[in-house]
This record gives sequence, structure tokens and C-alpha cells, in this order.
Amino acid sequence: MGNTNLASSNEYLARSQESLASASTFNKVQLFGNGRTPFCLVRGDGAYTWDVDGNKYIDYIIGLGTMTLGHNHPVVNKAISEQLKKGISFSLPTPLEIQVAEMLIERIPSAEKVKFGKNGNDATSAAVRLARYYTGRDHILFCGYHGWQDWYVCQTSKNGGIPKCIGELSHRFVFNDINFLMKLLKDYKDNIACIILEPIPAKEWPRDNFLEKVREIATNNNVVLIFDEVVTGFRFHKGGAQALFNIVPDLSCFSKAIANGMPLSAIVGKAGIMSKFNDVYFSLTNAGETLSLAAAKAVLAFYDQADVPAQLARSGAKLREGIKSLIVKYNLSDRMEILGFDCRFGINFIDKNNLNYDPTDDLLYWIELVAAHGILSAGWHMISYAHTDRVIEETLMIYGTVLPKMRAKLEGRMEKKVG
Ligand SMILES: Cc1ncc(COP(=O)(O)O)c(C=O)c1O
Repeated sequence: MGNTNLASSNEYLARSQESLASASTFNKVQLFGNGRTPFCLVRGDGAYTWDVDGNKYIDYIIGLGTMTLGHNHPVVNKAISEQLKKGISFSLPTPLEIQVAEMLIERIPSAEKVKFGKNGNDATSAAVRLARYYTGRDHILFCGYHGWQDWYVCQTSKNGGIPKCIGELSHRFVFNDINFLMKLLKDYKDNIACIILEPIPAKEWPRDNFLEKVREIATNNNVVLIFDEVVTGFRFHKGGAQALFNIVPDLSCFSKAIANGMPLSAIVGKAGIMSKFNDVYFSLTNAGETLSLAAAKAVLAFYDQADVPAQLARSGAKLREGIKSLIVKYNLSDRMEILGFDCRFGINFIDKNNLNYDPTDDLLYWIELVAAHGILSAGWHMISYAHTDRVIEETLMIYGTVLPKMRAKLEGRMEKKVG
């Protein structure tokens, strides 16, 4: 497939199995760490990243979507290094906290008050607790991924250690299925504290005024509407997906793009609900840590002078269209399709002709193949501001080499099956 040297990556992989209880971030190793793909990265610059063996990749995972401006961004670096000289952690709030809160209020339609955390999980957990207190109700309707908290994980296969009773209060609904949501509302009537959802999930655009209808239902039933904008925040619009659709939730959660990779999150919302944080405990020693807030201030200011979402859409559209053409050119439409949107889209492996393959095998092969040719991707493409025209053209050149190889591999499999 390629003769990429992965010796140091594999040494760290072996050492990690001795020293780490499990992956600190599940997603970072879920599809890697098989000895045939890079395991450890050491450096990033713009749209590129380098592994511990010195191999260079175009990075389409880009810090799990945190680096919307790209790695090693000079404006963000300058803000962090200037703040570093002044201090990291203080015993009272810093002006930065207030300044960044003001900047968020200025751009996010639902933001009248702000409270900071470190992870997306902090924000979504706090939002749900706040909604439960505000409404005096316990049940939650959710859709999509929201972090590692009990009320979400209880409904997944990784629910070890969560008391069964938690699961009785959480109910998953299906995005774009308004009738299903209405049924859940009827089933748990007067006991529902909140509806939490990503306004644009990875694979689906809201259809038939779904978000408008959810807003209306929440209002009519006195249910708190929470937008989880941990990923959508600042990819589609500098005010979040809510600004794009002009729909104002009661609470919203932001994290990944706020500080371009520095750990920061924010729960924002209407003053009446947010004021209940006087009674609802949500407090972190490091929430006011200044390097991340300084980075956030620089990132938000950068978004004011450059139309980042427009560029993400432009670059993403060029890449999407290019990959689509290559899929057609190499006659792979029955095995590969594109899901998602310009700023965040994935290649999905399918079995349109019911040949009885496991598409996961194809994905794993794809990850290895593209890594051997200098692209780091788990099928998905998270576009950043650093993925310029030149980077997209370089990517398409590589995919032009990779797709015939993928075709050959899939044909080989077909022959084996037939034989
Ligand atoms: C939509 C969404 N919400 C919440 C989270 C949790 O964020 P974190 O991992 O920073 O706690 C994620 C993480 O990927 C996410 O994608």
C-alpha cells in the first residue's frame, strides 16, 4: 500500500497499551491504532500535521473539529503567548472572562448571559441540569451525541456504571421526525424538562421546517429548548446555526471552535433561565483559565474580520465536488457516497448491490490507504480556514491516485466473494 515508516507510532501504541487504562479520547483511536495507521502525532501547522515518525499529512480530522482556523494560527498563538507572560490562573475573575462573554452575546442570538466551562460535555450537562431545575421536571428528549454524561450514555451500548433508573428519564428521538417527537411529548406529558439536539447533525439538514416546529412545540409545552452547537458553532455562521436559521433556543452549548483547540466551552442563554445558575451548581476551578479565554478573544475577533464560515463552505464545496467526480470516474458509486455538508462531510462506504460486504472493512482500508498517501481522515472531512484552494487541489491529486487503488481492492473482494 505504501512504505510509510510507522516504527515510533507503533512503539507508542504498544507503550500506550501498558500505561493508559483506555484512550483518553475514544474517537482518536477508535479507527486508528491497528499498527497500519499513524498512532501518535507531534506537530501541526495550518492544514497539515506530522506524526511521531516525521510523516506529513493533510489533516481532515483537525483536532476533532476544534481547529476551525487550522493548526498553529499566528493570531491565536500571539494571544496565548502574550497572556502566558501575564499569568494562567487567577484567584478572582479576569477582564477576559467578561470580554469574551460580551463577544458571545454580541453574535449568538440566544445569548443574553454566558457561563464558561472547559468541555462540550460541561456545557451540555449544565444546560440539562439547569432545564430540570427551571421546569421542575425530570425527563429529557435528546437526539445525537452530547458527551459522556449519564443521561446520554445510558441510552448507548457503552452504558457501564450508570444506574438503570437514569435511563428511565432519557428518551432518544430521531432528527427530522416531528411525529415521533410529538409522540414522546404526549407519552411523558408535563414531565419533560428539555429537548436537546444538534441543529445540524453530521448527516442531515433540517427538513420541512423541523427546527421551527421543535421551537414551537417547546414553547407550547413550556419545555426548555437546548441547541447543542458544540460542533455547528461557528462552522456555518459566526453566530451559530441558530443565526443561520433565525431560530432562538432557550439555551445553547458551544465549545469546539471557540478557542481553536484550547479547552473552553460556554453555555449561553436567556437571562431568565441563566439566572437560575444562582441555585444550580456548576463550577470549575479552571473555567476562568486565561490562555483559553485569550485564544477565544482572538478567534472571535478573527471571525469578525474574515468570513470564516464562507471560506469553509467554499473550500468544502470544491473538495466535495472533486471527490464526487472521482467516485463517478472510477465507477465507485455503488460502494461510496458522500454525506454531510460543505464544511463537514464524510465518505460513507455502502453496499448498494447487496453483495454482503461489511462497509467497516472498506472504511478501515480507506483510512490506511489515504494515510499511506499523506491524508489523515477517518472518512470525514472537517474543513478549516487553513484548507485553502491549494490544499484542496493537493488533496484531490492524492485522491486521484487513491481511488483507482480503492477500486482495485474492492474488485479483488468481489472476485473473492464470487469465487
Ligand atoms: C455535538 C457534541 N456535543 C457535545 C460533545 C462533547 O464535547 P466534549 O468532548 O468536548 O466534552 C461533542 C463532542 O464531540 C459533540 O460532538
